[in-house]
Amino acid sequence: MAGTLAATGLTTGSAPFVEEARTRGELYITQAYELYSQQNHEAWASLHKRMQPRWERYANDHFLRGLDTLRLPADRIPHLSHVNQRLKPMSGFEARPVSGYVPGFLFFDCLSRREFPTTITIRDQSRMDYLPEPDIFHDVAGHIPMHTEKAFADVLVRLGGCAHTAVAMAARVHDRDEQTRRLRNVIRAMSRFFWFTVEFGLMRTPQGIRAYGSGLLSSYGELEHAIESDQVQRYPVQLEWLIHQGAEIDHYQPLLFIVDSFDHLFSLVEQLEQWMREGKLNNVAPGLPEIAAGDLQSFLDAAESL
Ligand SMILES: [Fe+2]
Repeated sequence: MAGTLAATGLTTGSAPFVEEARTRGELYITQAYELYSQQNHEAWASLHKRMQPRWERYANDHFLRGLDTLRLPADRIPHLSHVNQRLKPMSGFEARPVSGYVPGFLFFDCLSRREFPTTITIRDQSRMDYLPEPDIFHDVAGHIPMHTEKAFADVLVRLGGCAHTAVAMAARVHDRDEQTRRLRNVIRAMSRFFWFTVEFGLMRTPQGIRAYGSGLLSSYGELEHAIESDQVQRYPVQLEWLIHQGAEIDHYQPLLFIVDSFDHLFSLVEQLEQWMREGKLNNVAPGLPEIAAGDLQSFLDAAESL
């Protein structure tokens, strides 16, 4: 059996080790490093090689310092245990291997405990630019270097705290339909915040506009496009705009928001939570991202358990 699994590797969409864990209902798994195929390591090496010059040109300094700290291997997939040895002393964060989709509340709850749910599979070499779901390159090369920066890590923890606030507020709403309606809106606002900052955020720096969003930092094509293209509108972030702005899912983002610093970003999360408490997130504009049934259910379950 082990031989069969090793031959297949840990490729996105074709990783029996991961699929079997999901079938058993296991969210947290081990990295099972020995299962990576030679092709898996080659996919990492090619992704890493072509990103390197773009990171140097377009990534913010915090990310570049994070790469130096983590010393991710260029030629093979990193061991998460090695990554964690260097990451944890910096901000307390740890990468925690998961079998795939993590329902919304559980995801934010992990952040509040300084755990980052991390995909272990890697995209197929024939689909280097197409990412149907996160893979280890997106999660480890795109997200984790940012987690070495304490100020940014604190933003994630505070966002995790917002999910707990949302659940506590939902638990006080006894009409089930109204509870669900409010949660849908609050989750949409939180998802948009995450999308336009943690995944696609830009920062003003002395060197010009630079990326700190991991969706940009793990995309060879979109990182350059986000900074250079005249097809992209870039605006100083406004929270009231951001929470009502629909995301664009299946192509390059035409609209991106710029923050001044991670202290600025942290103050926006505080504002987001304040608005949540005041009921201002109970009616945000419809549109993407869609709220998956599992995301909504995870918040409902957490409210139920209080
Ligand atoms: Fe991501």
